[in-house]
Amino acid sequence: MNQLAALAKYSAKEVRGAREASSSEHLVPVKAPKEAAMKDTPPVSNTRKRKSRTNAVHAGTRRSQYGEVSEAIFLTQGFVYDTAEDAEARFLDAGREEFIYARYGNPTVAMFEDRIAALEGTEDAFACASGMAAVNGAMMAILKAGDHVVAARALFGSCLYILDDVLRRFGVEVTLIDGTDIDAWAAAIRPDTRVAFFETISNPTLEVIDIAAVADLAHAVGALVVVDNVFATPTYSRAMELGADVIVYSTTKHIDGQGRCLGGVICGTRDFVRGVAEPYMKHTGGSMSPFTAWVMLKGLEHLDLRVRAQTGTATQIATALEGHPKLSRVIYPHLPSHPQYDVALRQMDEGGTMVAFDLTGGKDAAYRFLNALDIIIISNNLGDAKSIATPPATTTHQRLPDDQKAALGITPGLIRLSCGLEDSGDLIADILDALDAA
Ligand SMILES: Cc1ncc(COP(=O)(O)O)c(C=O)c1O
Repeated sequence: MNQLAALAKYSAKEVRGAREASSSEHLVPVKAPKEAAMKDTPPVSNTRKRKSRTNAVHAGTRRSQYGEVSEAIFLTQGFVYDTAEDAEARFLDAGREEFIYARYGNPTVAMFEDRIAALEGTEDAFACASGMAAVNGAMMAILKAGDHVVAARALFGSCLYILDDVLRRFGVEVTLIDGTDIDAWAAAIRPDTRVAFFETISNPTLEVIDIAAVADLAHAVGALVVVDNVFATPTYSRAMELGADVIVYSTTKHIDGQGRCLGGVICGTRDFVRGVAEPYMKHTGGSMSPFTAWVMLKGLEHLDLRVRAQTGTATQIATALEGHPKLSRVIYPHLPSHPQYDVALRQMDEGGTMVAFDLTGGKDAAYRFLNALDIIIISNNLGDAKSIATPPATTTHQRLPDDQKAALGITPGLIRLSCGLEDSGDLIADILDALDAA
């Protein structure tokens, strides 16, 4: 909290308008900003008491004077002021209901931010151009030269680039550790550590990191816990409750869920989101477009249904594959054979939508398997309605040196499977047939 207050101080003036305005849920008409409020919608503070399926459909809704059912796309970069004085006043006081420029804020984007914050259970959220804009923005907004960061080494390639390359170039000291080893966190965290960063379930080997244990260690020295929660999804996330301070998503994955747009979001306290993340993001250009926000809003409406269906399929696939003679291991957080099974049970109600497995025949067998798939597509997104198989060693994690791949278990025969919405029996048959051919 002390860190948050310190980080927020330089930007307090910029966020004044945002905080004052955030209690209102009314859209303000362009022609008469102070007079005609639009249709009543419940304030976010009330919607937070509702169940998450209800919030996914209604939270954050702002209706225009036309009373549209589906959220409006305000596909505009800017806003018109009646007078020069109005323009001046708006620049002084633009907040969550009065907008000046889409890089700073937009009504459609604000709806998405409020809805995802309600789902995640955080006070606020800032929508970003991509998941990587969100990871980079969260870290750069917090850190300065001379700071120390501890991060789990099992990271998506671009996350590792930010930690291992970008931050170091800007004078941040980074210690990478085995994130599943709590003793390693205890040894690496120092009094000057500012951030503990990790993927709550790592890409692609599905390591599960104990959020509460890391948060205890980090908070003891006043460090912030920043987590990339993509694989856990908002449906199963209890990251904030377990001690995470900042939760980042690539909304390109489950939140869109249909492979249409790149997006990201930074969730956290209002002080952090509006006082620390927003000033960095809005001035450096990583904001989400209104069109993308609209796609993400529509995605959120059925996120829970999709993720639960996909998780049911993932559980069936993982169970069906375990012990298959052509596989050396099947990785799924809720299989008892998972190395962090206990943590996964504590931290997640279900095992999630992702399964990984390793073909004993290595790269050749993995490629024969992939090329024999009939329904499941070969690609590198995840969380999509379409099931997707990825060979991480030669695609998403290609740039990692071989010794690092070996240390992380990213073997040539590893397949990462994102389970989609197809019939689970069809998918299992597709995988078993392809394994026969491998
Ligand atoms: C764990 C994780 N974090 C971040 C990202 C980056 O997201 P985006 O592609 O939206 O920038 C990905 C993408 O695969 C990911 O898997």
